[in-house]
Amino acid sequence: MHFSVKTSHPAQTKTACLILPVFKTRQLGPAAEQVDVASKGALSRALKRGDIDGSMGQSLMLYDIPNVQAERVLLVGCGPLKELTQAQWSRCVGKAVEIADQAKPGDAVIALPERDDKAARYADARDTVIAAGNATYRFDQCKSNADKRPHPLRRLTLLVGDGKIATTVRKGMTHGQAIANGMALTKDLANLPGNICTPSYLADAARKLGRGEAKLKVSVLEEKQMEKLGMGALLSVSRGSRQPAKLIVLEYKGGKPGAKPVALVGKGLTFDAGGISIKPAAQMDEMKYDMCGGASVLGTLAACVALDLPLNVVGVIPASENLPDGDANKPGDIVTSMSGQTIEILNTDAEGRLILCDALTYTERFKPAAVVDIATLTGACIIALGHQASAVLGNDDKLTEELLAAGQASGDRAWQLPLWEEYQSQLDSNFADMANVGGRAAGSITAACFLSRYTKKYKWAHLDIAGTAWVSGGKEKGATGRPVPLLTQFLLKRARLAE
Ligand code: BES
Ligand code: MN
Ligand code: ZN
Repeated sequence: MHFSVKTSHPAQTKTACLILPVFKTRQLGPAAEQVDVASKGALSRALKRGDIDGSMGQSLMLYDIPNVQAERVLLVGCGPLKELTQAQWSRCVGKAVEIADQAKPGDAVIALPERDDKAARYADARDTVIAAGNATYRFDQCKSNADKRPHPLRRLTLLVGDGKIATTVRKGMTHGQAIANGMALTKDLANLPGNICTPSYLADAARKLGRGEAKLKVSVLEEKQMEKLGMGALLSVSRGSRQPAKLIVLEYKGGKPGAKPVALVGKGLTFDAGGISIKPAAQMDEMKYDMCGGASVLGTLAACVALDLPLNVVGVIPASENLPDGDANKPGDIVTSMSGQTIEILNTDAEGRLILCDALTYTERFKPAAVVDIATLTGACIIALGHQASAVLGNDDKLTEELLAAGQASGDRAWQLPLWEEYQSQLDSNFADMANVGGRAAGSITAACFLSRYTKKYKWAHLDIAGTAWVSGGKEKGATGRPVPLLTQFLLKRARLAE
């Protein structure tokens, strides 16, 4: 979809569909107010009839409004303006775009809720673009009879009442576009099945991202090189699979030469059957999403490139499958990680931490300013936080705060879990330096405890996205593109570019 920003009188704006927010109770926003005046009260009359009072989720399509250039006017209920959250506004936009798209107009113009502060104007513009991107996202690469026609709604214009705020709105739109495109890339990779999106496929996707981009260097380490580096934990997982593991490294150099990079390390487990500690059959197909951390690193780096972000960012993606095999890890096996620490593998299904620990040790060589790992690491995270928040844990309070704030500002929220020293002993092993699991209690925390033993040399935070990276079952099943908004917001803020 194509986006733009325009300052004009809403009644004189030529469009196939003018989308106007209505607030509870029967409150027209400034743009709707102007349309109402121009049309001699056509909107207030519609409201009076009682079809719509401005409640969240309501909508009303109106035709032939006098003195209005738009072919149709779509009123969308947004609830009380004072209580409107970023997430709610996103839902209103999503709904409006779906309705407009079904009405088959070529373009639409949307009036934004004209809030008082600049930061909210920026966020509304950004979230409008992201929500429109989400509403028109399609994944039909694997359908033989896919509808190849583009969406009827091809252009969306953000209408701004006051010219002075246009720069802020335009900035929000630009950031929103980069985030929406990054999310679409993340979703595409994640929605692909395990037989197509293998570690090699992920590596190719990374190479494709770097093609023709002077600031983005992509390299891929093969198993031989990983062996030389002593990545015994990572390689023990891929030994059980016929697909060779890949360690994908992306170096985005948008900042000053020599400036310490931010490193994003994403779990790229392209299918997790559990290995010898095999998972139950129900919903096992969803373990194709176990590479969402890695995919979100690619999506975020795509956003960095699109925004020409003045920052150095490194992406590291350990990619592997986890399958049962005659050569797979067995419970009780002991492996030596690149750090030299030995691990007793008590459960082969706790493989994410095994591939991440070596990737985290490898990341030391970039002398990073901060490292954030992103992983669909534990089912326990879904039990703790459900599907609303990603979990964040780390060894540096300031970095954790930054990520929490970025989640809040982008509507892609995270919630902190404790990483107290007292949890560490759950990983004690009689036979090796540590076990790879710490029992049922506090499963997400002990997983982070495991990673913390490989991240002592830098500032580090861990995002467990098991509950937020995709929607399970049902009609809505599919990847969400999270946490690309959180990560991009975090980087924009580091580059002092977000509002
Ligand atoms: N990829 C899974 C975590 C997961 C499970 C994500 C369900 C989303 C939904 C991970 O590799 C895993 O299997 N973790 C185990 C750890 C356990 C063996 C300590 C889990 O959560 O059951
Ligand atoms: Mn697993
Ligand atoms: Zn896994």
